[in-house]
Amino acid sequence: MTDEQERVQPSGVWATAVGVAKVRALETERENALFRDPLARAFATAGGLGPSSAPQPGDEAARLRRLGIAFSIVIRTKFLDDLLQQASASGVRQVVLLGAGMDSRAFRMDWPEGTRLFEVDTAAPLDFKASVLRQERAVARCERITVAVDLREDWPGALAAAGHDPTAPTVWIAEGLLIYLPEDAVELLLARISARSAAGSRMGLTLGSRGVIERFGADAVPGSAASMWVSEMPDDPVGWLAGHGWEADSHTLRERAAAYGRPVSTPPQREEGPGGLISAVRR
Ligand SMILES: C[S@@+](CC[C@H](N)C(=O)[O-])C[C@H]1O[C@@H](n2cnc3c(N)ncnc32)[C@H](O)[C@@H]1O
Repeated sequence: MTDEQERVQPSGVWATAVGVAKVRALETERENALFRDPLARAFATAGGLGPSSAPQPGDEAARLRRLGIAFSIVIRTKFLDDLLQQASASGVRQVVLLGAGMDSRAFRMDWPEGTRLFEVDTAAPLDFKASVLRQERAVARCERITVAVDLREDWPGALAAAGHDPTAPTVWIAEGLLIYLPEDAVELLLARISARSAAGSRMGLTLGSRGVIERFGADAVPGSAASMWVSEMPDDPVGWLAGHGWEADSHTLRERAAAYGRPVSTPPQREEGPGGLISAVRR
């Protein structure tokens, strides 16, 4: 059987990773793209979200919600690309992508010699990804190590077995992940990350902003990614991370979008608190 025939099709929470790839494919095709992800189109197509796939169901409100989510994915991707580049420039040579999905940074970014990049996700998306990477003959630009484990289980053990060194600094990315984990699981994840972060480690997180589940999740189209959202950011993300030993900065999507030349034209619908996009350094 060929890779294509054997390929397991997206389902449940990991299907969201293919939706993210589709958004990145569309951004890549823009003239003034904020990043280029040459593998994104192949992931989307293999997962049934290619250019000729059926339009998604839903009314105008659902369409606008999807546009809003797509916009946030573009901005957060750029934010985390920059954060990773800064981490590399500061000398960090270990990267851990938690809930890596179809993230193709190992293939599309420049990495200094000696960089080891760990992709942690469950087995099904990693198998799907591997089959697309083989099909595309993709070659990683750093040492790439996949770790198939559920983040609710003993992922630190699996990461250690895969060769992660907690005595050297690490840059951790949790992009589009924490919103799918209940609050106690988020807390545990943070504690486990922190216990494995030498001084100089960095972290990039995306958090659901306050009220996003009410606005997007509750009446979302059944089966959509937003209907699986369960947790939002704490009221004081900087204080929360300080409690875990991190010096954090919190950015809004609106502020970052303006900085990247993609200002949001609509006025804020409500008082926007800080948050959404977090960068942090371990002192
Ligand atoms: C919205 S996708 C984001 C993927 C990737 N970070 C990106 O931005 O391209 C969420 C990812 O988190 C993964 N995920 C969610 N819950 C998980 C868990 N308990 N253990 C491991 N991975 C998980 C899913 O499999 C999926 O790949």
